[in-house]
Amino acid sequence: MNNYVRFFDTTLRDGEQSPGATMTSTEKIEVARQLARLGVDVIEAGFPIASPDDLAAVQAISSDVGQAESVSTWAEDSVRTPVICGLARASTQDIDAAWEAIQSADYPRIHTFLATSDIHMRHKLRMEREDVVERVSTMVAYAKQYCSDVEFSPEDAGRSDPEFLYIVLEQAIKSGATTLNIPDTVGYTTPEEFSTLISGIIANTPGIDNVIVSVHCHDDLGLATANTLAGIRAGARQAEVTINGIGERAGNTSLEEVVMALHTRRPIFSLEHGVDTTQITRASRIVSKYTGIVVQPNKAIVGANAFAHEAGIHQDGMLKHEETYEIMRPETVGLSQSTLVLGKHSGRHALRVRLQELGFDLSDEELQDLFIRFKRVADKKKVVADADLVALISDEIYQPPEVFRLKDAQVVCGTLGMPTATVRIIGPDGKESEQAAIGTGPVDACYSAIDKIVHLPNELQEYNVNAVTEGIDALGEVTVRIQVDSEQMAAPQRISPQREQLQYRTFGGHGASTDVFVASARAYVNALNKALAALGIQIDKPVITPNSTKGKD
Ligand code: KIV
Ligand code: ZN
Repeated sequence: MNNYVRFFDTTLRDGEQSPGATMTSTEKIEVARQLARLGVDVIEAGFPIASPDDLAAVQAISSDVGQAESVSTWAEDSVRTPVICGLARASTQDIDAAWEAIQSADYPRIHTFLATSDIHMRHKLRMEREDVVERVSTMVAYAKQYCSDVEFSPEDAGRSDPEFLYIVLEQAIKSGATTLNIPDTVGYTTPEEFSTLISGIIANTPGIDNVIVSVHCHDDLGLATANTLAGIRAGARQAEVTINGIGERAGNTSLEEVVMALHTRRPIFSLEHGVDTTQITRASRIVSKYTGIVVQPNKAIVGANAFAHEAGIHQDGMLKHEETYEIMRPETVGLSQSTLVLGKHSGRHALRVRLQELGFDLSDEELQDLFIRFKRVADKKKVVADADLVALISDEIYQPPEVFRLKDAQVVCGTLGMPTATVRIIGPDGKESEQAAIGTGPVDACYSAIDKIVHLPNELQEYNVNAVTEGIDALGEVTVRIQVDSEQMAAPQRISPQREQLQYRTFGGHGASTDVFVASARAYVNALNKALAALGIQIDKPVITPNSTKGKD
């Protein structure tokens, strides 16, 4: 058993399956480039059969990040060319599509999967055990004709009968699989159980010594990182992870947590990996900005508060010796600590320096736009914290190609009358439109007024408001998720590999302001812009006149 752990990043596949995380092809290439800089060994670039867009995005990544010649044009010398992987169910059409998408990569990999738990075989696949074994053999062999690097996953392995798994995995090895990935698809197992499962597979599967055992965990019980580390300690040498832990439902194992555990507790693990930890913060921010999924402030390693020390006793200890309360240095994950305090007297230069320290390189024009917002916030708050800056950045700079821009939003509400909102929006043609609407509450009224201008039928699925920092003057951050009505819009739908059914497309939006009503309006316009950009919808005439209220008061 060697001591090198491969990192297989599935941010662009399992991560992108997070509701609302849809990215455009260009954004996916940017993410893939950062994953290469980060030094991951394998990039699972997508699920090519899911839609023509997914196939095209995987093709584009294969020809860019997947080719040494191209990598040398945009990356530093130290950046290795990663393996590019495409996901396929155990069917010839899926495998054909995966191969079509990855064949231009220098190191292509086909990843095929079939469920092995009784519950999935009986209710989802309606297949008997023998048929599953047979299908795995033929489909792994089919993939092998195209590509020497084939990964097989017995889906829902965490709830599968281990004895049956040994048989399936043996057949996969015989048919040519080079990596066997063990997914805890529904995040059900505990670390002890998962460790026993991996040790059992290693001890009882004939031929296992010649392949790499991989682990793929989901975080439904908050155990994904613990399970992944348990699997690695039991002998797995590939970890499947996503940046910021994004993914189906509660998400996947987060790359930064596993990497930093191996790094910080090296004496316990004694394992090597190829990840450049100083690229972690940048990767986290890029993924957050393109998916619209805001990282929770207390998230390990990459949360805005991960290295903040608030309590007096902690600050005192830190000043005396950093190791009193700090097990990792912020610089190790690419975060530089600053003594700069930004407030209303700070100028553009100080703002630029702080942003660079936080890993954001803005153009002069972007800096100017951000500076205007920064000043408005600084006028209301004494100190603008890093978390405020990150919220403003996601709100102001990292927006999809803007179709509609919110100019003004005003609301009248309270116990004396109907909540009434008025919005002014600049459209794609540069023309300003104004609309007013009533609603069950101020946000509902505002979204109805926006709908009267944007005309994109959708359902508001989620609305969250958070204070970025503490105090009455805190910046409010609103995230929304909308589902586009695909029947009326004929919006492309994609297949969810876990559910094997067509999925509606959902889009996330984000807005920040010291006024939560304005933040709400910005978040909704942001989500609509993302949907319009991703679906390639031309807004020259109303698509449909919405008549329903959004149901947010
Ligand atoms: O969670 C899962 O089972 C998966 C497979 C496709 C590997 O994502
Ligand atoms: Zn998964």
